Amino acid sequence: MAANYNNSAWFYDRLSRIVYGKALVNAQVYLLKHVPANSNVLIAGGGTGWILEELSNIHPTGLNITYVEIAEHMMALSQKRNIASNKVTFINDAIENIVLSTDFDVVITPFLFDNFTEQTLEKVFAHIHSLLKRDGLWLNTDFQLTGKWWQQVLLKTMFLFFKVICGIEASRLPAIGRRFTEAGYKVVDRKTFFGDFIVTEVYTR
Ligand SMILES: C[S@@+](CC[C@H](N)C(=O)[O-])C[C@H]1O[C@@H](n2cnc3c(N)ncnc32)[C@H](O)[C@@H]1O
Repeated sequence: MAANYNNSAWFYDRLSRIVYGKALVNAQVYLLKHVPANSNVLIAGGGTGWILEELSNIHPTGLNITYVEIAEHMMALSQKRNIASNKVTFINDAIENIVLSTDFDVVITPFLFDNFTEQTLEKVFAHIHSLLKRDGLWLNTDFQLTGKWWQQVLLKTMFLFFKVICGIEASRLPAIGRRFTEAGYKVVDRKTFFGDFIVTEVYTR
């Protein structure tokens, strides 16, 4: 079953701030300095779209952004964001279903992959991989387990909550880092947040 965050759109940001404070935001904003001026950027699973405003604070003009979000309520909130003078193409669909040009300088996948089973991750990862330029940058932020007991507790609680509310398919964290390694990506910048539970990485091939 495909994840559908429609039901959570109106409280998602507030709830995530209550649980994680600013960690989810800081982890993603940390990566944005890597986005070159005048680049062609793909954002997949941007949620309520606050990342568009953060990106536009850094580059008020010159970006050509394709913003793909499957949940229409998330998309409606995203379309109200201040994008300064950048150009944004909004696509309300699953990233793996759409045909796009294959010349993105940067792709951003913020907390997208944790929704998926290994099987879906494989498919979605391969699709996004095919859209990134050979020398492009892939900015990925997600949860990771580093052996602390409370990470498992939080993760299980989140999976259960979002399964009930949004019907997400995952009930365990897929091996996200392994996908990047197997596809030949190398980490050029990395930082962890919230006691290592959140990892934000810049990958290149
Ligand atoms: C966990 S939320 C993260 C939202 C946002 N990136 C943030 O950090 O606040 C995952 C988002 O990905 C979207 N999503 C899930 N599967 C998707 C897919 N296959 N294609 C595009 N968006 C998807 C969901 O609708 C949801 O808004």
